[in-house]
Amino acid sequence: MKFFIDTANLDDIAEAQALGVLDGVTTNPSLMAKEGITGEENILNHYKKICDIVDGDVSAEVIATDFDGMVKEGEALAALHPQIVVKLPLIADGIKACKYFSDKGIKTNVTLVFSPGQALLAAKAGATYVSPFLGRLDDISTDGLNLIAEIRQIYDNYGFSTEILAASIRHTMHVIDCAKIGSDVMTGPLSSITGLLKHPLTDIGLAKFLADYKKGNE
Ligand code: G3P
Repeated sequence: MKFFIDTANLDDIAEAQALGVLDGVTTNPSLMAKEGITGEENILNHYKKICDIVDGDVSAEVIATDFDGMVKEGEALAALHPQIVVKLPLIADGIKACKYFSDKGIKTNVTLVFSPGQALLAAKAGATYVSPFLGRLDDISTDGLNLIAEIRQIYDNYGFSTEILAASIRHTMHVIDCAKIGSDVMTGPLSSITGLLKHPLTDIGLAKFLADYKKGNE
């Protein structure tokens, strides 16, 4: 299972990278705005900074909602750095643009996916990644994990190579449940990765090992 971090915060990205388990980064316009990154030039420079920190794929989202605009923006994003993946919304023009980029060998991440049918369309259009939003479904009393499971079944039925990128992950149990279902990738905040480290018995056990060592070596 690949671990992506879902942020535009360079410190968080560097911390996850330093842990040695990071496979990529996802961003979106809201996450860029949260870091105060505005204006086309600053946004493009920020993507380059992210690519310099991580080794893996970095999803950069288009703002345009029409095919021509998505192609223009996506080509500019892809030209920025070989690690850039063009992130496209699941709307008709987004699917058309996904097919366009996939035919050109440019990686894509189709985002804002909330149903198995949408995920099927993304796979048919050759998406590299499909991003079902787990947490946002949970927010409206709908089983987000079930969506991941349904997409897994559909993709396995036909051998689609599109990777399921479980997005809108909020906490460690989302990560573990997605791993059980067989999601190819998860993307979440730094806390959803570092939270996996925590267990009180680990801390208690380590303290005892160190105390026993100290006693025996006084
Ligand atoms: O990758 C999509 C993600 O950023 C959405 O997360 O927490 O805003 O629902 P959230």
